[in-house]
Amino acid sequence: MQFKNSLLLLTALTAGSAVARAHGHERRHQHQARAVGDVVTAVIDGKVATWVNTYGGPTQAPAAPAATAAPAVQNDVVADASVTPLPTSTAVTTTTTSATTTSTAFPTGFGGQTQPTGTGDTFCGNQGIPYGSNIIQITEDDVSTYDYTITLDGSAVTEDYQVVFWNKCDSNDQLTGWYATTFPLTVTVSAGSTSYIAVDTNSQGGFVALPASQDIPRNSLGSILGFWGEFDFADSNNANWSGFDVSAIQAQNAGQTDFPGLKMEANGVVSSITTNLGAVDNAYTADEAAIGGIGGNLPSGPVALTATLGFSG
Ligand SMILES: *[C@@H]1O[C@H](CO)[C@@H](O)[C@H](O)[C@H]1NC(C)=O
Repeated sequence: MQFKNSLLLLTALTAGSAVARAHGHERRHQHQARAVGDVVTAVIDGKVATWVNTYGGPTQAPAAPAATAAPAVQNDVVADASVTPLPTSTAVTTTTTSATTTSTAFPTGFGGQTQPTGTGDTFCGNQGIPYGSNIIQITEDDVSTYDYTITLDGSAVTEDYQVVFWNKCDSNDQLTGWYATTFPLTVTVSAGSTSYIAVDTNSQGGFVALPASQDIPRNSLGSILGFWGEFDFADSNNANWSGFDVSAIQAQNAGQTDFPGLKMEANGVVSSITTNLGAVDNAYTADEAAIGGIGGNLPSGPVALTATLGFSG
């Protein structure tokens, strides 16, 4: 019953793509009642999709930050792991989710938008209200209706992958998003398949893509390891420019680089690192942690990123 309704809604959204594009952040999700940690499975356009719901609903919404930063153009589009602070508390546990429900479809839009705080490396843009509702999984058909998308291309991987997404800042505007134990979004990309993500404007965050059979690796402080895919879409602290890069900084600093490769590409710009820190192309390694602007830097406007999982060159 819900599934049918949802399909109708998805169809309506696709048909009304201009509206969706113009008012994406105002569209309301329809799954607030779904519990955090529920494994959600749906058949959409004939394809089985599974993801873990970490969208806790409005009861988990953070208090809106009071301060609003004045916009200023920055050269460093993506604040990298070089500025990694210590977390306010050291969380080393990994997320486990076991509750299983069958639900309908992906969220049909973003939640609300948080007010930005800070500038430069301490800038925190939009983390979504509720927290994490700025990063959602969408159907292939809906990719063209969103301004900022990430296509997770698993055609090169031969086992199921998990892709965990974090916001750069936590719900208190601290630069600790990559210590998260509850992720804004976890997507399972089955071997050989492709999944699609939309990110709301003024969002900064990252992801790692690793075999689903593993726990998410972490350093001694709890930071997520792996080759990070970093993104910064329509940054209000940077004249609405977007940026992206692949980074091995956190992995190298932890002395662990045996991770699957990752390539990110948009508008003809590539940032990539091959498996086990093989070839590095326009991507961050520890030696370049202090250099700004590595990766893609794109002027204001829509960005359709493709991320190739398990990139081996
Ligand atoms: C950035 O985008 C916002 C929202 O669309 C818009 O109001 C603002 O004028 C833009 N700023 C620049 C510098 O383009």
